[in-house]
Amino acid sequence: MCGIIGYVGDRPCRDILFRGLRKLEYRGYDSAGISVIDDGRFSLLHSVGNLDNLEAILDQLGGDGTMGIAHTRWATHGRPSTENAHPHTDCSGRFAIVLNGIVENYLSLRAELQEEGHTFTSETDAEVVAHLIERAYQGSLQKAVVEAYRLMEGHFTFCAIAVDEPDTIVGIRKETPLVVGVSEGENFLASAIPAFLAETRSVIFPDDGDVVVVRRDGVFIADLDGNPVERPVEGVDWDDEAAEKAGYETFMLKEIHEQPTALADTLTERIGPDGSVALEGLGLDAETIEGLGRIVIVACGTSYHAGLIGKHALERWARLPVEVEVASEFRYRDPVIGPDCLCIAISQSGETADTLAAMRLARQAGARVLAVSNIVGSQATREADGVLFTRAGLEIGVAATKTFISQVLAMLLLGLYLGEKRGHLSRDQVRTYTQELRRVPAMLSDYLEDGAADRVEEVACRYSSASYFMCLGRNIGLPVALEGALKLKEISYVPTEAYAAGEMKHGPIALLEEGSPVLVVATDSRVYDKLISNVQEVRARGARVIAIASEGNESLAEMADEIIYVPRSDEMFAPLFAIVPLQLFAYHVARCRGEKVDQPRNLAKTVTVE
Ligand code: G6P
Repeated sequence: MCGIIGYVGDRPCRDILFRGLRKLEYRGYDSAGISVIDDGRFSLLHSVGNLDNLEAILDQLGGDGTMGIAHTRWATHGRPSTENAHPHTDCSGRFAIVLNGIVENYLSLRAELQEEGHTFTSETDAEVVAHLIERAYQGSLQKAVVEAYRLMEGHFTFCAIAVDEPDTIVGIRKETPLVVGVSEGENFLASAIPAFLAETRSVIFPDDGDVVVVRRDGVFIADLDGNPVERPVEGVDWDDEAAEKAGYETFMLKEIHEQPTALADTLTERIGPDGSVALEGLGLDAETIEGLGRIVIVACGTSYHAGLIGKHALERWARLPVEVEVASEFRYRDPVIGPDCLCIAISQSGETADTLAAMRLARQAGARVLAVSNIVGSQATREADGVLFTRAGLEIGVAATKTFISQVLAMLLLGLYLGEKRGHLSRDQVRTYTQELRRVPAMLSDYLEDGAADRVEEVACRYSSASYFMCLGRNIGLPVALEGALKLKEISYVPTEAYAAGEMKHGPIALLEEGSPVLVVATDSRVYDKLISNVQEVRARGARVIAIASEGNESLAEMADEIIYVPRSDEMFAPLFAIVPLQLFAYHVARCRGEKVDQPRNLAKTVTVE
């Protein structure tokens, strides 16, 4: 939610900041702004809407300033408008700030500041920070930032600059991300690494409460009392190319096509020469694994659906009871958790506020916590007892695709790993599974290269004017249907309901009319015959069946109005294939309807507010 970038160096920074914002646009895009210190005063620019609007007026900002901050916003407090766009300034115009997150006590702070004579120009929670700094400033921006920070409640990151200190940016974080890019004679602060990846790959990951003072000639980090704090500079091996569309019309389409690579990377070195699953860093020794009594998976959005698939794997192979819960519900329950419980928090970003809160709750109640995340150094990975990294690479499209498929694979690997360790799967059984898993990336790659996408496009465009879709699945196919429906909702805005096929007759069937399109995940499985009965129920109501089926299933072709084949696989691996045409289906429905798929309305990729 919201993207921040700051730069200080010798180069004119307006365009550097803007390029950084472009890389952060996935975090929010309802308004944006830049502030540069030029000739001893702020030069400020705000715009409403996505970054194209800011780019159109960028020339209005003096191009010479060599330090500044910028922001792309996802509105929480105050509608998208130029007044509410960051950077915000104080009454005197000497301080500017950008903030990501929420200042929970902003109303009382604002009232207090107003009483003291401060004038506010926006409806945001963030503006209080500029005024708090103004009030506290006595010649040291670092100290003023600390004073403001001590008064603020909530979870946020902010960066501040002062006209009187034209060589300094001060940043600080509390439970939301802040990374520092280190380079020769210039340095960066940002919400995420892609913002400065084209300029440097040397990164510092500050902790909560670290006061990060960034200057042209170096980065100084202190605690809240001013004592120096050492944080290592780490190298990242991400490719800046990954943040470009590489010839695809959208990031989402590019990322759908990157799924075979994401799977191959997530598998790398995780299958041993003997066919066993090798997972390091889980923080689970043999005794702990043996003593596990149950598993609770917490996650949000797409990651929640990966958790539902994980439940099938963990129950079937590791024979452990598994609950999967949306983190925002779990965190406000009073769940019964004990030391024999493993909490698995799935979060591609590792930043989702509800997921972080849920894992903290589980931890306090005595559970061990394992984070499944795509982002090295993210909050979830820092707080967990162990981490299982997916290796999908950077995902920019707001609708998750390659991170989902990698999470599913990670959960399958975990199921096999715990299954063998707990003695429910023999090495031979595991080897049979892993032999097949090894082939999955190439199978998916061939599938995509063999024109699967074109076939899906053709079908999707035929149904793109539908006013409603239903998605059905059973067993491990149900989470796939749920995820397919989420994609349709997120990017095409067509109301879509996903349901357990066997449960449809208890209500949703009433929605079906002549011609209603129903997507059915009908890959080979132990419940295939049951699912076919549900397909017949749909057909009997005159609805149109769009089936996702295993290659070679000819009998279903006769029953369905449309059939989209996917490679045949073990039923446990079918989600890795079946989700792909559903992603493409949603994509093409959205494109046919003229929607901007990489920036769906009202959504953000990383949700750091509860
Ligand atoms: C947002 C994104 C979703 C994502 C969810 C959870 O809603 O738009 O795509 O699934 O957050 O994100 P996480 O980073 O925790 O997996």
